[in-house]
Amino acid sequence: MLTVGIETSCDETSVAIVKDGTKILSNVVNSSLQFHKKYGGIVPEIASRKQLEMIAPAADLAIKEAKINLKDIDLISATSKPGLPGSLLVGLSFAKALNLSLDIPLLGVDHVHSHIYANFLMGNKIKLPVIALVVSGGHTSLFYLKDFDKIETLGKTQDDACGEAFDKVAKIMKLGYPGGPLIEELAKKGDNKSIKFNCSYAKSPLDFSFSGIKTAVLYAVRDKQLTLREKRNIAASFQGSVINTLVNKTLLACRMKKSKRLLIGGGVASNERLRESFYKAARGHGINCYFPAKNLCMDNAAMVAGLGYQLFKKGIRSNLDLFTQLN
Ligand code: KG4
Ligand code: ZN
Repeated sequence: MLTVGIETSCDETSVAIVKDGTKILSNVVNSSLQFHKKYGGIVPEIASRKQLEMIAPAADLAIKEAKINLKDIDLISATSKPGLPGSLLVGLSFAKALNLSLDIPLLGVDHVHSHIYANFLMGNKIKLPVIALVVSGGHTSLFYLKDFDKIETLGKTQDDACGEAFDKVAKIMKLGYPGGPLIEELAKKGDNKSIKFNCSYAKSPLDFSFSGIKTAVLYAVRDKQLTLREKRNIAASFQGSVINTLVNKTLLACRMKKSKRLLIGGGVASNERLRESFYKAARGHGINCYFPAKNLCMDNAAMVAGLGYQLFKKGIRSNLDLFTQLN
């Protein structure tokens, strides 16, 4: 069964063809990032206008790379929430047009849940239930996944998302945008124990808070002429504290749910230091820890197609009032 996935929740315009929910035949990802860089963050109006230009060529390319014909597609799966409304509207309108013209089923899927699903595109046989952590630019959430349609939220951020904290700290340190990879690079030669940053406080033990640490970094750099060494130490200490908090809370969730399987997803999950820390901690507790490949950590339509296929198999369908219904 062939599913076309459509992802337009933020700055990416992505279209993928996935066979039977797991085999990626094509995964075209176009980003409008270069047009946002000078503003230091995503400008929604620019994102949706670029998506309008890019969606049809991306679909053509996805079909060509998959070596299929449009009429071979059996199912349409598009991100329906959460995301920038104008951007979601572009992808959903395209999905609805396909639904009408091809007369095949349409499904709207949750973007955050699809980040978890990226792990199922790696060829591993992963048994459910699992604990899942999604760390992206817009979300930081812990889930207990009993099945693809039975996902319990155990905790989430009370303020900034984890990736957002990386982006804001990079902005404070005048590194550029997006901040995650820039902080990671700077932190490589830094001492992560040189400064005590704390981001462990949150009302519930499985919730997160990243706005305090961002302010702490601001105080550490404000009105100072920092040497390269000091900058590296700040980046490493910030990154280290964020990773420690993510690891500790996620392992607590594993203990609470007696789970020995853990999936991580979202843009921040491409951070090498974070991956190493999770693998090490999970191994120490006899937990099997999975990550998607780095390109599948970032926003992409293959994960949307895969999750849509699983939900379709469970009898879930959407209709043409998708956007108004879910937002
Ligand atoms: O999942 P994603 O592509 O988009 C959202 O759904 O938000 O994640 C983008 C986020 C950005 O905040 C970016 O700074 C962060 O992921 N990110 C990283 C790294 N690469 C991307 N954060 C830390 N380390 C990285 N290597
Ligand atoms: Zn995302």
